[in-house]
Amino acid sequence: MNNYPIFIDGTWRKTKESLQVLDKYSQKVYATVSTAGKKDVDDAISSAFHAFKRHQLSPYERFSILQKTYQILLDRKEELAKIIVKEAGKPLKQALAEIERSAQTFLLAAEEAKRVHGEGVPVDAAPGSENRLAFTIKVPVGVVGAISPFNFPLNLVSHKVAPALAAGNAVVLKPASKTPISALKLAGILEEAGLPEGLLQVVVGSGSTVGKQMIEDKRISLYTFTGSADVGLKLKQETGLNRLILELGNNSPVIVDKEADLDHAAQTLAGQSFAFAGQVCISVQRIYVHESVHSSFMKKIISNIKRLSVGDPADPATDVGPMISESEAERAEEWVQEAVSDGAEIAYGGKRDGVLFEPTLLTNVNKNMRVVCEEIFAPVVSIIPYTELDECIAELNQSDYGLQGGIFTQNIDTAFYAAKRVGVGGFMINDGSQYRVDLMPYGGVKDSGNGKEGPKYSVDEMTEERLIVMNLK
Ligand code: SIN
Repeated sequence: MNNYPIFIDGTWRKTKESLQVLDKYSQKVYATVSTAGKKDVDDAISSAFHAFKRHQLSPYERFSILQKTYQILLDRKEELAKIIVKEAGKPLKQALAEIERSAQTFLLAAEEAKRVHGEGVPVDAAPGSENRLAFTIKVPVGVVGAISPFNFPLNLVSHKVAPALAAGNAVVLKPASKTPISALKLAGILEEAGLPEGLLQVVVGSGSTVGKQMIEDKRISLYTFTGSADVGLKLKQETGLNRLILELGNNSPVIVDKEADLDHAAQTLAGQSFAFAGQVCISVQRIYVHESVHSSFMKKIISNIKRLSVGDPADPATDVGPMISESEAERAEEWVQEAVSDGAEIAYGGKRDGVLFEPTLLTNVNKNMRVVCEEIFAPVVSIIPYTELDECIAELNQSDYGLQGGIFTQNIDTAFYAAKRVGVGGFMINDGSQYRVDLMPYGGVKDSGNGKEGPKYSVDEMTEERLIVMNLK
């Protein structure tokens, strides 16, 4: 069994304590990983702080390292995908897609490294400043503290690390304790690609120890966190005046209008509700269906769900694998049972077998049930009929969340009418809420967080704009 060290100051460090990483399907121990104690975290932050000052890489050097990383990720696709299958329980085809996306994230960040620039400021337009010339430059913030989730153990790490490095920062990364191995592999790949020592540190451990110590350390200038709204709120309260990017949860809504292409909608939504067992922040969770097409849509989505293969994530045919832990699967089961006892009906699925939770379709739900109003983060989707589009939009906007949503309709007026009125960060027309490519701005409103990811947008978030004014007199 592999025992992975952590990565501090450009060296691989075995510590006294370690945690076990389970194979999420078999629930057997797959590997152990050293965990960071107080001194390790302090060393990591100190190393990043000094490395940031020591290594002022040129944009071209940053481009070159990030571009090499892109290439190595593609070369090692199969090996890395197998790790994601084991540590996250993600089905193989989705794990392979994640590596390809991660490579793209690095390539996009490489390109952005050459575009970090400010703009001219026409100060000479102000009375008395006629002989002045001004412009801004973008400077890195310093040390970025990144805390990443289990659900995309490589690509959501990449979305934090790649733009931070592209912008010229140093990074201290705390990956999710359930899935730390992909992040450690990425550190090795960056090292191989020529990243100077100290610019990336990977410290593994719990949020209450390692995460807390990172949050309290004033040498970190900006935090970027993906995870639950509860933890996001806590971080906001604890990071004071420091910069903070938050990518939090969602209970993603999608509208199926009376003028939708129902075959397309049903096929897309069956895929997007259950990929990675619904453990994606933009998984489709609430489907609002116009009453005139409700029964036809139900038949079509059920026939698409029946085609999904559930089981071993290592099987190339599997669409829906295990949830991240048995306790999470039990929680989802409890929410479904609670909804059923309040009147919901199970139109498909509903059963749990250990960590496996069947793709589940609920009807007859109401807006106060947890399966509707909270983020379930499980393969459970609710169908909610509506009559008037305005009422539907008002109801879906009652959510505390607002990350992404969508509408299926062949009527362009209806599509834009909805797009202007829904309270989300991204809205898909004729696609589900789960559409994401890595170059787009990604981030939510309300309890879904603030700030945008996507290399171009993250580089912007992870730099300061400094004004320079020349007095030419
Ligand atoms: C997330 O769960 O927030 C990430 C979704 C994605 O990158 O596709």
